[in-house]
Amino acid sequence: MDEYEQQYRCLKAHGFNAWTGDGYERAYRQLVNTLDKLMVKNLLPAAKASVLELGCGNGAMSSRYMAKNGYSVYGVDISPTAVKWAAEDFSRLGLTGKFSEGDVCHLGQYQSQMFDMIVDGSCLHCLINEQRHQCFQEVKRLLKPEGRFIISTMCGLPQSPEDIQNYDYVNHHLIRNGSPWRTLKPLPILQEEILQERFTIVDLEKNTNPWWDHATIVCRC
Ligand SMILES: C[S@@+](CC[C@H](N)C(=O)[O-])C[C@H]1O[C@@H](n2cnc3c(N)ncnc32)[C@H](O)[C@@H]1O
Repeated sequence: MDEYEQQYRCLKAHGFNAWTGDGYERAYRQLVNTLDKLMVKNLLPAAKASVLELGCGNGAMSSRYMAKNGYSVYGVDISPTAVKWAAEDFSRLGLTGKFSEGDVCHLGQYQSQMFDMIVDGSCLHCLINEQRHQCFQEVKRLLKPEGRFIISTMCGLPQSPEDIQNYDYVNHHLIRNGSPWRTLKPLPILQEEILQERFTIVDLEKNTNPWWDHATIVCRC
């Protein structure tokens, strides 16, 4: 069983609402604030547009926001427990969404140019090395020509002594149990990667935290 499936089984068994555990209410408020700002700036498509969340987890963050705002919501996650949980919660809340189990690096279950918007559900920073390129390629294939890709990701440098000790400054990885666990790139390096993947950056907002920063980056192909 992979770490994500294990984590979702544990979260569900202990009665938490989402990946963020105890911090869910705060995280959701912050997300709503960020996405509302993008809405005001006219950076999100109109309601009814088709939206895919990458790494949707149990659907309690971006997918929920999008469904409440009238989008046609799809979500994909590698954890079967998370995907089932998302479907159950949507049904309980009277929301509509199509959730499926899958790997964001290989999204053959979706047709090319199927989505008006793809939202990174804080999943890109879980991908290591070549996986990131594979994911960017899939996003390009799945987006409609005027589509938007919203990246929501860790960025910057680690701040805590423990993370600093377990950070690979060459490859920009946080290391856990001897293996790369998260990609954590300083913002200029992350922007460079996005441009090299041939996306245009339309908007960027950075939140500063005591542990590392978080960026919300709106891109188009
Ligand atoms: C930081 S969690 C965020 C979950 C959810 N978007 C939220 O905000 O609550 C990252 C999610 O990405 C999923 N994930 C990680 N690697 C993945 C992959 N290769 N394909 C699909 N999902 C993946 C994990 O299972 C997890 O649900």
